[in-house]
Amino acid sequence: MRSVISRKSANSRQVDELNAFAQAKLDNLQAKDLKRGLDPTSRGVGGAIVRNGKASISFCDNDYLGLSQNPRVVAAAGAAAIRYGAGASASRLVSGDSPLNHELETMIARMKGLEACRVFGSGYMANMGTIPVLVGKSDVVVMDELSHACMHAGAQLSGAEVRLFKHNDVSDARLQMQSLPAGARVLLLTETVFSMDGDLAPLQELQALCEEFGAWMMTDDAHGFGVIKQDNPALIQMGTLSKAVGVYGGYVCGPSAFIELLISRARTFVFTTGLPPQVLGAALEAVSIIDRDKQLAKSVMSKTKAFTDALGLPAPTSTIVPILLGEAKVALDVQAKLLEDGFHVSAIRPPTVPAGSSRLRIAFSAAHELDDILSLAESLKKHLPKGVLRT
Ligand SMILES: Cc1ncc(COP(=O)(O)O)c(C=O)c1O
Repeated sequence: MRSVISRKSANSRQVDELNAFAQAKLDNLQAKDLKRGLDPTSRGVGGAIVRNGKASISFCDNDYLGLSQNPRVVAAAGAAAIRYGAGASASRLVSGDSPLNHELETMIARMKGLEACRVFGSGYMANMGTIPVLVGKSDVVVMDELSHACMHAGAQLSGAEVRLFKHNDVSDARLQMQSLPAGARVLLLTETVFSMDGDLAPLQELQALCEEFGAWMMTDDAHGFGVIKQDNPALIQMGTLSKAVGVYGGYVCGPSAFIELLISRARTFVFTTGLPPQVLGAALEAVSIIDRDKQLAKSVMSKTKAFTDALGLPAPTSTIVPILLGEAKVALDVQAKLLEDGFHVSAIRPPTVPAGSSRLRIAFSAAHELDDILSLAESLKKHLPKGVLRT
Protein backbone atom coordinates (compact mmCIF):
# COMPACT_ATOMS: atom_id res chain seq x y z
CA MET A 1 0.00 0.00 0.00
CA ARG A 2 2.78 2.39 0.97
CA SER A 3 4.60 1.77 -2.32
CA VAL A 4 1.40 2.57 -4.31
CA ILE A 5 1.05 5.85 -2.40
CA SER A 6 4.68 6.82 -2.90
CA ARG A 7 4.45 5.95 -6.61
CA LYS A 8 1.40 8.19 -6.82
CA SER A 9 3.17 11.11 -5.20
CA ALA A 10 6.25 10.59 -7.40
CA ASN A 11 3.90 10.59 -10.34
CA SER A 12 2.16 13.79 -9.26
CA ARG A 13 5.60 15.40 -8.75
CA GLN A 14 6.35 14.53 -12.38
CA VAL A 15 3.02 15.98 -13.50
CA ASP A 16 3.90 19.22 -11.67
CA GLU A 17 7.39 19.23 -13.20
CA LEU A 18 6.09 18.76 -16.74
CA ASN A 19 3.40 21.40 -16.27
CA ALA A 20 6.00 23.88 -14.95
CA PHE A 21 8.25 23.10 -17.93
CA ALA A 22 5.38 23.66 -20.40
CA GLN A 23 4.03 26.75 -18.59
CA ALA A 24 7.43 28.48 -18.77
CA LYS A 25 7.47 27.91 -22.53
CA LEU A 26 3.86 29.11 -22.87
CA ASP A 27 4.63 32.28 -20.86
CA ASN A 28 7.62 32.93 -23.08
CA LEU A 29 5.51 32.56 -26.24
CA GLN A 30 2.81 34.80 -24.76
CA ALA A 31 5.36 37.52 -23.99
CA LYS A 32 6.39 37.50 -27.68
CA ASP A 33 2.78 37.47 -28.99
CA LEU A 34 3.51 34.02 -30.44
CA LYS A 35 1.26 31.84 -28.27
CA ARG A 36 -1.33 30.00 -30.32
CA GLY A 37 -4.80 28.87 -29.35
CA LEU A 38 -7.74 26.89 -30.63
CA ASP A 39 -11.16 28.44 -31.22
CA PRO A 40 -13.95 25.99 -32.02
CA THR A 41 -15.39 27.18 -35.33
CA SER A 42 -18.46 25.99 -37.21
CA ARG A 43 -18.33 26.57 -40.92
CA GLY A 44 -21.08 27.15 -43.45
CA VAL A 45 -21.21 28.22 -47.09
CA GLY A 46 -19.60 31.33 -48.59
CA GLY A 47 -16.97 31.55 -45.85
CA ALA A 48 -19.63 32.03 -43.11
CA ILE A 49 -18.33 30.87 -39.75
CA VAL A 50 -19.33 31.04 -36.10
CA ARG A 51 -16.30 31.28 -33.84
CA ASN A 52 -16.58 31.67 -30.09
CA GLY A 53 -20.25 32.49 -30.61
CA LYS A 54 -19.51 35.32 -33.06
CA ALA A 55 -20.61 35.11 -36.70
CA SER A 56 -18.19 36.36 -39.36
CA ILE A 57 -17.02 35.74 -42.90
CA SER A 58 -13.72 33.92 -43.02
CA PHE A 59 -11.06 35.00 -45.50
CA CYS A 60 -8.28 32.67 -44.39
CA ASP A 61 -9.45 29.20 -45.45
CA ASN A 62 -7.84 27.06 -48.12
CA ASP A 63 -11.20 25.84 -49.39
CA TYR A 64 -10.54 27.80 -52.60
CA LEU A 65 -13.41 26.30 -54.59
CA GLY A 66 -15.92 26.00 -51.75
CA LEU A 67 -15.98 22.23 -52.26
CA SER A 68 -15.87 21.37 -48.55
CA GLN A 69 -19.50 22.58 -48.39
CA ASN A 70 -20.60 21.34 -51.82
CA PRO A 71 -23.74 19.19 -51.34
CA ARG A 72 -22.54 16.59 -53.88
CA VAL A 73 -19.20 16.23 -52.07
CA VAL A 74 -20.90 15.95 -48.69
CA ALA A 75 -23.38 13.37 -50.05
CA ALA A 76 -20.49 11.35 -51.55
CA ALA A 77 -18.85 11.22 -48.11
CA GLY A 78 -22.06 9.83 -46.60
CA ALA A 79 -22.59 7.33 -49.41
CA ALA A 80 -19.02 6.01 -49.12
CA ALA A 81 -19.36 5.56 -45.36
CA ILE A 82 -22.65 3.69 -45.80
CA ARG A 83 -21.16 1.47 -48.51
CA TYR A 84 -17.73 0.78 -46.91
CA GLY A 85 -17.94 1.75 -43.21
CA ALA A 86 -16.50 4.56 -41.13
CA GLY A 87 -12.82 3.60 -41.05
CA ALA A 88 -10.17 1.84 -43.15
CA SER A 89 -9.43 -0.57 -40.26
CA ALA A 90 -5.74 -1.06 -41.11
CA SER A 91 -2.78 0.14 -43.15
CA ARG A 92 -3.41 -0.02 -46.89
CA LEU A 93 -0.77 -2.78 -46.96
CA VAL A 94 -2.71 -4.99 -44.55
CA SER A 95 -6.45 -4.79 -45.26
CA GLY A 96 -7.17 -1.07 -45.45
CA ASP A 97 -6.72 -0.59 -49.20
CA SER A 98 -10.20 0.60 -50.18
CA PRO A 99 -10.85 0.42 -53.95
CA LEU A 100 -11.65 4.14 -53.71
CA ASN A 101 -7.90 4.80 -53.25
CA HIS A 102 -7.20 3.33 -56.67
CA GLU A 103 -10.00 5.24 -58.38
CA LEU A 104 -8.68 8.46 -56.86
CA GLU A 105 -5.05 7.70 -57.79
CA THR A 106 -5.98 6.93 -61.39
CA MET A 107 -7.96 10.17 -61.68
CA ILE A 108 -5.24 12.39 -60.16
CA ALA A 109 -2.44 10.83 -62.27
CA ARG A 110 -4.49 11.46 -65.42
CA MET A 111 -5.25 15.07 -64.44
CA LYS A 112 -1.58 15.71 -63.64
CA GLY A 113 -0.42 14.01 -66.86
CA LEU A 114 2.00 11.81 -64.89
CA GLU A 115 2.45 8.05 -64.97
CA ALA A 116 1.12 7.15 -61.54
CA CYS A 117 -0.13 8.49 -58.24
CA ARG A 118 -0.12 7.33 -54.60
CA VAL A 119 -2.58 8.66 -52.04
CA PHE A 120 -1.22 9.35 -48.53
CA GLY A 121 -2.91 10.18 -45.22
CA SER A 122 -2.17 13.90 -45.66
CA GLY A 123 0.04 16.27 -47.60
CA TYR A 124 2.35 16.48 -44.58
CA MET A 125 2.73 12.71 -44.57
CA ALA A 126 3.25 12.64 -48.34
CA ASN A 127 6.27 14.96 -48.09
CA MET A 128 7.64 13.34 -44.92
CA GLY A 129 7.40 9.89 -46.47
CA THR A 130 8.53 10.57 -50.02
CA ILE A 131 11.65 12.74 -49.60
CA PRO A 132 13.57 10.09 -47.58
CA VAL A 133 12.82 7.55 -50.33
CA LEU A 134 14.48 9.83 -52.89
CA VAL A 135 17.61 10.85 -50.98
CA GLY A 136 19.70 9.67 -48.02
CA LYS A 137 22.82 10.44 -45.98
CA SER A 138 25.29 10.88 -48.82
CA ASP A 139 22.94 13.05 -50.91
CA VAL A 140 22.01 16.73 -51.12
CA VAL A 141 18.64 18.50 -50.95
CA VAL A 142 18.59 21.97 -52.53
CA MET A 143 15.40 23.72 -51.49
CA ASP A 144 13.64 27.08 -51.63
CA GLU A 145 13.96 28.65 -48.18
CA LEU A 146 10.21 29.32 -48.03
CA SER A 147 9.20 25.72 -48.71
CA HIS A 148 6.53 24.39 -46.35
CA ALA A 149 7.49 22.98 -42.94
CA CYS A 150 6.74 19.42 -44.06
CA MET A 151 9.23 19.64 -46.94
CA HIS A 152 11.86 20.86 -44.45
CA ALA A 153 10.89 18.03 -42.10
CA GLY A 154 11.13 15.40 -44.87
CA ALA A 155 14.51 16.78 -45.96
CA GLN A 156 15.84 16.65 -42.36
CA LEU A 157 14.50 13.15 -41.87
CA SER A 158 16.25 11.90 -45.03
CA GLY A 159 19.67 12.64 -43.48
CA ALA A 160 20.79 14.38 -46.69
CA GLU A 161 22.76 17.63 -46.55
CA VAL A 162 20.18 20.43 -46.83
CA ARG A 163 21.08 23.58 -48.76
CA LEU A 164 18.56 26.42 -48.87
CA PHE A 165 18.36 28.86 -51.76
CA LYS A 166 16.90 32.36 -51.53
CA HIS A 167 13.21 32.41 -52.30
CA ASN A 168 12.58 31.92 -56.04
CA ASP A 169 16.19 32.89 -56.81
CA VAL A 170 17.42 30.62 -59.60
CA SER A 171 20.97 32.09 -59.47
CA ASP A 172 21.21 31.23 -55.80
CA ALA A 173 19.81 27.73 -56.51
CA ARG A 174 22.62 27.37 -59.07
CA LEU A 175 25.20 28.39 -56.42
CA GLN A 176 23.84 25.72 -54.07
CA MET A 177 24.32 23.10 -56.80
CA GLN A 178 28.10 23.78 -56.86
CA SER A 179 30.69 21.58 -55.08
CA LEU A 180 28.53 18.53 -54.70
CA PRO A 181 30.01 15.49 -52.94
CA ALA A 182 31.09 12.80 -55.43
CA GLY A 183 28.26 10.45 -56.31
CA ALA A 184 25.62 12.47 -54.43
CA ARG A 185 22.08 12.40 -55.72
CA VAL A 186 20.56 15.89 -55.72
CA LEU A 187 16.90 16.66 -55.10
CA LEU A 188 15.53 20.16 -55.69
CA LEU A 189 12.40 21.02 -53.69
CA THR A 190 10.03 23.92 -54.18
CA GLU A 191 6.36 24.83 -53.91
CA THR A 192 4.44 25.67 -57.09
CA VAL A 193 2.31 28.35 -55.37
CA PHE A 194 3.86 29.59 -52.13
CA SER A 195 1.48 29.11 -49.26
CA MET A 196 2.17 32.32 -47.34
CA ASP A 197 3.06 34.65 -50.23
CA GLY A 198 0.83 33.40 -53.05
CA ASP A 199 3.60 33.82 -55.63
CA LEU A 200 4.62 31.17 -58.17
CA ALA A 201 7.93 29.31 -58.51
CA PRO A 202 9.98 29.66 -61.73
CA LEU A 203 9.43 25.99 -62.54
CA GLN A 204 10.90 25.95 -66.07
CA GLU A 205 14.15 27.63 -64.99
CA LEU A 206 14.50 25.36 -61.97
CA GLN A 207 13.91 22.27 -64.12
CA ALA A 208 16.54 23.48 -66.63
CA LEU A 209 18.97 23.83 -63.71
CA CYS A 210 18.12 20.31 -62.53
CA GLU A 211 18.76 18.91 -65.99
CA GLU A 212 22.11 20.72 -66.17
CA PHE A 213 23.21 19.29 -62.81
CA GLY A 214 21.54 15.89 -63.11
CA ALA A 215 19.21 16.68 -60.20
CA TRP A 216 15.58 15.61 -59.71
CA MET A 217 12.88 18.18 -59.01
CA MET A 218 9.96 17.61 -56.65
CA THR A 219 7.20 20.20 -56.30
CA ASP A 220 4.55 20.78 -53.66
CA ASP A 221 1.33 21.81 -55.43
CA ALA A 222 -0.76 22.10 -52.25
CA HIS A 223 -2.02 25.58 -53.18
CA GLY A 224 -2.11 25.09 -56.95
CA PHE A 225 -4.05 21.89 -57.56
CA GLY A 226 -7.52 22.69 -58.84
CA VAL A 227 -6.88 26.43 -59.07
CA ILE A 228 -3.59 27.42 -60.72
CA LYS A 229 -2.62 25.22 -63.63
CA GLN A 230 1.05 25.79 -64.42
CA ASP A 231 3.08 23.93 -66.99
CA ASN A 232 5.02 21.85 -64.44
CA PRO A 233 8.01 19.85 -65.70
CA ALA A 234 8.90 18.38 -62.26
CA LEU A 235 9.52 14.64 -62.14
CA ILE A 236 7.75 14.22 -58.81
CA GLN A 237 4.69 16.28 -57.91
CA MET A 238 2.92 16.09 -54.58
CA GLY A 239 -0.17 17.85 -53.36
CA THR A 240 -2.98 17.76 -50.86
CA LEU A 241 -6.67 16.92 -50.91
CA SER A 242 -7.31 19.39 -48.07
CA LYS A 243 -7.22 22.73 -49.89
CA ALA A 244 -9.02 23.30 -53.24
CA VAL A 245 -10.28 19.70 -53.07
CA GLY A 246 -11.88 20.66 -49.75
CA VAL A 247 -11.51 17.29 -48.01
CA TYR A 248 -8.39 15.64 -46.53
CA GLY A 249 -5.42 13.51 -47.60
CA GLY A 250 -2.33 13.92 -49.75
CA TYR A 251 -0.87 12.46 -52.92
CA VAL A 252 2.40 12.00 -54.81
CA CYS A 253 2.57 11.60 -58.60
CA GLY A 254 5.54 10.56 -60.72
CA PRO A 255 7.16 7.75 -62.71
CA SER A 256 5.32 4.45 -62.17
CA ALA A 257 8.19 2.39 -60.70
CA PHE A 258 8.93 5.15 -58.19
CA ILE A 259 5.27 5.37 -57.16
CA GLU A 260 5.32 1.57 -56.77
CA LEU A 261 8.44 1.84 -54.57
CA LEU A 262 6.61 4.20 -52.18
CA ILE A 263 4.36 1.28 -51.17
CA SER A 264 7.36 -0.55 -49.71
CA ARG A 265 9.61 2.31 -48.62
CA ALA A 266 7.64 5.43 -47.61
CA ARG A 267 7.29 4.99 -43.86
CA THR A 268 4.35 7.40 -43.58
CA PHE A 269 2.55 5.15 -46.06
CA VAL A 270 3.54 1.77 -44.63
CA PHE A 271 3.09 2.39 -40.92
CA THR A 272 -0.24 4.20 -40.84
CA THR A 273 -3.92 3.46 -41.38
CA GLY A 274 -5.52 4.11 -44.79
CA LEU A 275 -7.82 7.12 -45.21
CA PRO A 276 -11.43 6.48 -44.12
CA PRO A 277 -13.89 5.66 -46.95
CA GLN A 278 -15.93 8.86 -46.42
CA VAL A 279 -12.81 10.96 -46.97
CA LEU A 280 -11.95 9.04 -50.14
CA GLY A 281 -15.53 9.18 -51.44
CA ALA A 282 -15.73 12.93 -50.85
CA ALA A 283 -12.29 13.52 -52.39
CA LEU A 284 -13.23 11.49 -55.48
CA GLU A 285 -16.36 13.57 -56.02
CA ALA A 286 -14.51 16.85 -55.41
CA VAL A 287 -11.64 15.95 -57.76
CA SER A 288 -14.10 14.94 -60.47
CA ILE A 289 -15.90 18.30 -60.07
CA ILE A 290 -12.52 20.05 -60.49
CA ASP A 291 -11.86 17.94 -63.59
CA ARG A 292 -15.19 18.84 -65.20
CA ASP A 293 -15.93 22.39 -64.04
CA LYS A 294 -13.15 24.77 -65.07
CA GLN A 295 -15.44 27.72 -64.27
CA LEU A 296 -14.84 27.31 -60.53
CA ALA A 297 -11.13 28.12 -60.77
CA LYS A 298 -11.87 31.09 -63.06
CA SER A 299 -14.46 32.38 -60.60
CA VAL A 300 -12.12 32.37 -57.58
CA MET A 301 -9.38 34.11 -59.55
CA SER A 302 -11.76 36.85 -60.75
CA LYS A 303 -12.98 37.35 -57.16
CA THR A 304 -9.38 37.61 -55.95
CA LYS A 305 -8.74 40.21 -58.65
CA ALA A 306 -11.81 42.21 -57.58
CA PHE A 307 -10.18 42.43 -54.14
CA THR A 308 -6.72 43.47 -55.37
CA ASP A 309 -8.33 46.03 -57.72
CA ALA A 310 -10.35 47.48 -54.83
CA LEU A 311 -7.15 48.02 -52.84
CA GLY A 312 -5.00 49.12 -55.80
CA LEU A 313 -2.71 46.09 -55.38
CA PRO A 314 -0.97 44.25 -58.25
CA ALA A 315 -3.07 41.59 -60.02
CA PRO A 316 -3.04 38.32 -58.04
CA THR A 317 -0.94 35.32 -59.08
CA SER A 318 -3.02 32.92 -57.00
CA THR A 319 -5.93 32.92 -54.54
CA ILE A 320 -3.61 34.07 -51.73
CA VAL A 321 -2.97 37.78 -51.09
CA PRO A 322 -0.49 38.52 -48.29
CA ILE A 323 -0.54 41.88 -46.50
CA LEU A 324 2.76 42.24 -44.70
CA LEU A 325 2.60 43.95 -41.32
CA GLY A 326 5.95 43.18 -39.66
CA GLU A 327 5.58 42.58 -35.94
CA ALA A 328 3.18 39.93 -34.63
CA LYS A 329 1.35 42.44 -32.42
CA VAL A 330 0.45 44.68 -35.37
CA ALA A 331 -1.00 41.68 -37.25
CA LEU A 332 -2.99 40.61 -34.17
CA ASP A 333 -4.35 44.14 -33.71
CA VAL A 334 -5.59 44.35 -37.31
CA GLN A 335 -7.07 40.84 -36.99
CA ALA A 336 -9.09 42.03 -33.96
CA LYS A 337 -10.36 45.16 -35.75
CA LEU A 338 -11.43 43.19 -38.82
CA LEU A 339 -13.34 40.81 -36.59
CA GLU A 340 -15.30 43.74 -35.14
CA ASP A 341 -16.38 44.48 -38.74
CA GLY A 342 -17.42 40.83 -39.25
CA PHE A 343 -14.34 39.40 -41.02
CA HIS A 344 -12.09 36.64 -39.77
CA VAL A 345 -8.52 36.82 -41.14
CA SER A 346 -6.09 34.96 -38.94
CA ALA A 347 -2.76 36.74 -38.28
CA ILE A 348 0.14 34.61 -39.52
CA ARG A 349 3.15 34.83 -37.25
CA PRO A 350 6.57 33.17 -36.87
CA PRO A 351 7.54 30.37 -37.11
CA THR A 352 4.98 29.94 -39.93
CA VAL A 353 6.61 33.00 -41.58
CA PRO A 354 10.10 34.49 -41.01
CA ALA A 355 10.57 36.78 -37.98
CA GLY A 356 9.48 40.37 -38.68
CA SER A 357 7.17 39.34 -41.53
CA SER A 358 3.92 38.69 -39.68
CA ARG A 359 1.02 39.22 -41.99
CA LEU A 360 -2.57 38.82 -42.89
CA ARG A 361 -2.78 36.01 -45.42
CA ILE A 362 -6.03 36.69 -47.18
CA ALA A 363 -7.37 33.72 -49.13
CA PHE A 364 -10.36 33.66 -51.45
CA SER A 365 -12.94 31.08 -52.41
CA ALA A 366 -15.22 30.70 -55.42
CA ALA A 367 -17.99 30.57 -52.80
CA HIS A 368 -17.31 34.06 -51.41
CA GLU A 369 -19.90 36.73 -52.26
CA LEU A 370 -18.51 39.72 -54.17
CA ASP A 371 -20.17 42.12 -51.71
CA ASP A 372 -18.33 40.51 -48.80
CA ILE A 373 -15.03 40.77 -50.67
CA LEU A 374 -15.53 44.48 -51.35
CA SER A 375 -16.61 45.13 -47.75
CA LEU A 376 -13.44 43.38 -46.53
CA ALA A 377 -11.39 45.70 -48.76
CA GLU A 378 -13.15 48.74 -47.21
CA SER A 379 -12.55 47.43 -43.71
CA LEU A 380 -8.85 46.92 -44.46
CA LYS A 381 -8.54 50.49 -45.79
CA LYS A 382 -9.88 51.67 -42.43
CA HIS A 383 -7.74 49.48 -40.20
CA LEU A 384 -4.37 48.91 -41.88
CA PRO A 385 -1.50 51.06 -40.57
CA LYS A 386 -0.58 53.92 -42.94
CA GLY A 387 1.75 53.00 -45.81
CA VAL A 388 1.07 49.26 -45.72
CA LEU A 389 -0.91 49.27 -48.96
CA ARG A 390 1.67 51.29 -50.88
CA THR A 391 2.99 48.97 -53.61
C1 LIG B 1 2.59 24.02 -49.12
C2 LIG B 1 1.96 22.99 -48.23
N1 LIG B 1 2.38 21.73 -48.32
C3 LIG B 1 1.85 20.76 -47.57
C4 LIG B 1 0.87 21.03 -46.64
C5 LIG B 1 0.34 19.93 -45.79
O1 LIG B 1 -0.85 19.44 -46.35
P1 LIG B 1 -1.93 18.72 -45.43
O2 LIG B 1 -2.74 19.78 -44.79
O3 LIG B 1 -2.69 17.87 -46.39
O4 LIG B 1 -1.15 17.91 -44.43
C6 LIG B 1 0.40 22.33 -46.52
C7 LIG B 1 -0.68 22.62 -45.55
O5 LIG B 1 -0.70 23.53 -44.82
C8 LIG B 1 0.95 23.33 -47.32
O6 LIG B 1 0.56 24.60 -47.22
